[in-house]
Amino acid sequence: MSAPMPCPAKTQVLIVGGGPSGLLLSQLLHRAGIDTVVLERRSRDYVLSRIRAGVLEQGMVDLLRRAGAAERMDREGLVHDGVEIAFEEDRLRLDLADLTGGKTVMVYGQTEVTADLYAARDAMGGVIVHEAENVALHDVDGDAPYATFEKNGETHRIACDFIAGCDGFHGVARQTIPADVLKTFELVYPFGWLGILADVPPVNDELIYACHDKGFALCSMRSQTRSRYYIQCSLEEKVEDWSDDRFWEALAAHLPADVAGKLVTGPSIEKSIAPLRSFVTEPMRHGRLFLAGDAAHIVPPTGAKGLNLAASDIHYLSTGLIDHYRGDSTGLETYSQRALARVWKAERFSWWMTTFLHRFPEKGAFGARMQRAEFDYLKSSRAAQASLAENYVGLPY
Ligand code: APR
Ligand code: PHB
Repeated sequence: MSAPMPCPAKTQVLIVGGGPSGLLLSQLLHRAGIDTVVLERRSRDYVLSRIRAGVLEQGMVDLLRRAGAAERMDREGLVHDGVEIAFEEDRLRLDLADLTGGKTVMVYGQTEVTADLYAARDAMGGVIVHEAENVALHDVDGDAPYATFEKNGETHRIACDFIAGCDGFHGVARQTIPADVLKTFELVYPFGWLGILADVPPVNDELIYACHDKGFALCSMRSQTRSRYYIQCSLEEKVEDWSDDRFWEALAAHLPADVAGKLVTGPSIEKSIAPLRSFVTEPMRHGRLFLAGDAAHIVPPTGAKGLNLAASDIHYLSTGLIDHYRGDSTGLETYSQRALARVWKAERFSWWMTTFLHRFPEKGAFGARMQRAEFDYLKSSRAAQASLAENYVGLPY
């Protein structure tokens, strides 16, 4: 843990939120000679205790390398050139590399990405203020925006050129934009995911997304010895009602028998329930305030696009800001349109994967046959497989 840093009265880019979006932006800007301050509401330990997804697209891998925060990922991450879709007892392997002209994904947890970004920020002496309370953003549509916040009972004020709202779905940045300027689009799914992390070897060397009569299940991993599994659950479920034994039994019932037969079970390290939602805010810019990552959009986790979409936002925003300070503001002016064009495509893919692979009892027997037809089509068509694979490895930035 680094020593507490004095908080300057002025910076070039003030970043609200010290999750992956805010840290990556801060790191990329600092490496280009642009000064930033990150304000994070929580402690570093709290941020690093959050377990999230773990599949990185090539674009995000490249960005982490450019940020100088990829050394451990390159050493410990697992490169996957395939992924499986299971439908009832059928299984289909998609050869991602073959279907996309050589592209792959990197299996490496978001928690590790965040820890690596903190280490990279510390190594450069980056300013991150933790436990910054009551952050408020002022004059964001004028020429001289500033932020105020409280820390240890004292009020601070920081002036800046620009503000990046990287403070997640529940943050303050999106709420700063006047309601008559913002358009929001939302779809809430009638189920959640119950997830478990356990120090047991993964059931398969590649991820398996499974659609079963009982509902959706996902077999994922963090390493050769740590597995991450999920099953579809009702929103009424309470995590306390799920003993490890009950989870493992339910998971086995959601998987093809040959996969279930190979499951290695053990005590959980973490267990949680997450609701599924699709959400987009437009525009992603208001005056000198720019939204990025979960502050602007949410995808359901089917397809693992959340973190990757945050990374593509940060790519557009960091290059826009860097070009601006070098005298060309085009990228900054077009940030919202460029980011949203990619956001909507990832929203479409995540919605499609979710709709394809979950049980929707309210859609009846016809809905279930459509899902079977979707799987049969996928199995028989290289074009359909190529389309899934192209989206799964990540659309170009
Ligand atoms: N003031 C300061 N910090 C805040 C505030 C606030 N008012 N509100 C939220 N934060 C902090 C949160 O504590 C959190 O650490 O902002 C950070 C936002 O981080 P994330 O929620 O992880 O969002 P982001 O950085 O955009 O990460 C991309 O995509 O789908 C997801 O799981 C994926 O979390 C990942 C996200
Ligand atoms: C995960 O490993 O947590 C994970 C992987 C793929 C997903 C979602 C979550 O689509």
